[in-house]
Amino acid sequence: MTKLIALFPGDGIGPEVIAQARRVLDVVCGDRLSYEEGYVGYVAYEAAGHPLPEETLAIARKADAVLFGAIGDPRGDSLSRDLRPEQAILGLRKGLTLFANLRPAKLFPELADASALRPEVASAIDLVIVRETNGDVYFGEKGMRTTANGRREGYDIMSYNEDEVARIARVGFETARARRGKLCSVDKANVLETSQLWRDVVIEVSAEYPDVELSHMYVDNAAMQLVRNPGQFDVIVTGNLFGDILSDQASMCAGSIGMLPSATLDANGKGLYEPIHGSAPDIAGQGKANPLATILSSAMMLRYSLGMAAEADRIEAAVAAALAGGARSPDLGGTHTTVQMGDAVLAAL
Ligand code: NAD
Ligand code: IPM
Ligand code: MN
Repeated sequence: MTKLIALFPGDGIGPEVIAQARRVLDVVCGDRLSYEEGYVGYVAYEAAGHPLPEETLAIARKADAVLFGAIGDPRGDSLSRDLRPEQAILGLRKGLTLFANLRPAKLFPELADASALRPEVASAIDLVIVRETNGDVYFGEKGMRTTANGRREGYDIMSYNEDEVARIARVGFETARARRGKLCSVDKANVLETSQLWRDVVIEVSAEYPDVELSHMYVDNAAMQLVRNPGQFDVIVTGNLFGDILSDQASMCAGSIGMLPSATLDANGKGLYEPIHGSAPDIAGQGKANPLATILSSAMMLRYSLGMAAEADRIEAAVAAALAGGARSPDLGGTHTTVQMGDAVLAAL
């Protein structure tokens, strides 16, 4: 049966990296996949007056999975917040209840010299960040106001309820159970009430998973430990904001932000797949973007939402072979263009 993919290239380097993922999927899956494209981000605002038009949301709802490039454009920064390109990804996560964002960070051995860390430290990195994406300070009440003495004040309310925490905690425990059995919950419970509830609920849920070894870490320490000794982590479960920051950091430990894929899942296995990076306006249109994070995201899509694990393995092996053969975009210290990186993966296939 043909599976329908909602294909949302978006802004900046989004279309460039999606084009390479599409070439790979065409070779590996052929006409077992069909595609419906939609506008997201600033291009959607320009075309339809909104970063996440109703038609786009409708395509996402009916599709078996969503493959997303990136959104964001400097011209969007002056728009009212509800019209900014970023609302496209936030609206898709919220609108489709995609609450569990899995961001695996693993160093391909060939890239040991590309990591910002010493090779012996970097080579140990093999972790998954399980980031909650439906709550936290991202979706709380926010605004600008004027204080009594006439000064401007901005505010964003951080909150999690216990059901939201329990739901993502279970994804964290299940993910750890399928790996090395270690879950580290990252919070800021020494200061934040939101985090105290987070920690209490994670401990309650842990009773269902006696086989998983649970630890807790404050987010500032976690940021430090990720650089000091990333090999100590198996699965990290954390909130929306902390997970956003820690996953960019983890990407650099694993070589480059252009290497890290992600899956954002609902409770039924439906998912949105995207690189963790953004639209990279500084290199857009120059052929410098590394498409491997997006190609690896398409492999995650085949594995998690489409039941095509063998095809996912094939893509991941081809990426490893392309790297072993010397394919290096500028972020990895080389001169391969975006298309040449795609060529190298296709050649390996
Ligand atoms: P960014 O991830 O777009 O870029 C950060 C740096 O990494 C830049 O120097 C960029 O050139 C580099 N980079 C990113 N992806 C790369 C790739 N595939 N290959 C090589 N180099 C790469 O983050 P930013 O500059 O802070 O944000 C730019 C825009 O993207 C903003 O509008 C932001 O809101 C948006 N953004 C969107 C997403 C998303 O679509 N999910 C994620 C992050 C940021
Ligand atoms: C990400 C991005 C988004 C986030 C932005 C673009 C809203 O940084 O997917 O990591 O903060 O979640
Ligand atoms: Mn981010």
